[in-house]
Amino acid sequence: MISLKKPAAPRGSVPALRVRGAQTADLDQVVEIDAGITGLRKAEYWGEILRRYGGGRQQRFFLVADRGGRIEGYVVGDVRDWEFGSPPCGWVFGIAVRPEARLGGIATQLLEAICEGFRRLGVDKVRTLLARDNQLVLSFFRSQGMMAAPFIPLEKDLD
Ligand SMILES: CC(C)(COP(=O)(O)OP(=O)(O)OC[C@H]1O[C@@H](n2cnc3c(N)ncnc32)[C@H](O)[C@@H]1OP(=O)(O)O)[C@@H](O)C(=O)NCCC(=O)NCCS
Repeated sequence: MISLKKPAAPRGSVPALRVRGAQTADLDQVVEIDAGITGLRKAEYWGEILRRYGGGRQQRFFLVADRGGRIEGYVVGDVRDWEFGSPPCGWVFGIAVRPEARLGGIATQLLEAICEGFRRLGVDKVRTLLARDNQLVLSFFRSQGMMAAPFIPLEKDLD
């Protein structure tokens, strides 16, 4: 007799990674990943990001890389129309992966997923901004084909 039962996953096998929209239940892990990088636990900030960027909102993306319930990383960004005088384009303003899960292609998958969302909205360019001395994030974005843009950031202290 032929059995149609799916073979059980081998014991101890690693669950597949799934990139999906962030949910309320993910927030503690996102806060923990961010705090591991920045040293700041910003629970309120991430709650607000979920409120504004979660739930598949038009033009806004807050995605997580989920491996069997463990959040390994996240990406946040949006499509901005005619800001800084440029035609609509995608902006990535936060991307991070747990230190112990790095160099396994997770950030690459997160960036690809958000870029796919941008493409679906009809934009053909993605931008980001990073600290000049953040060599790690720079190496990552350069590996993804991103190059210096024709803009310069300006700032001043407000009295
Ligand atoms: C940058 C970061 C998101 C990359 O995540 P990741 O999952 O390790 O990235 P990937 O595995 O997809 O790496 C893709 C490519 O990026 C480059 N890269 C990533 N980490 C690198 C490192 N430590 N050194 C040099 N190049 C690196 C490599 O070219 C790599 O490709 P390869 O593995 O084939 O060489 C992760 O290191 C991180 O979270 N860093 C801290 C983020 C941070 O500082 N955020 C604050 C500002 S938003």
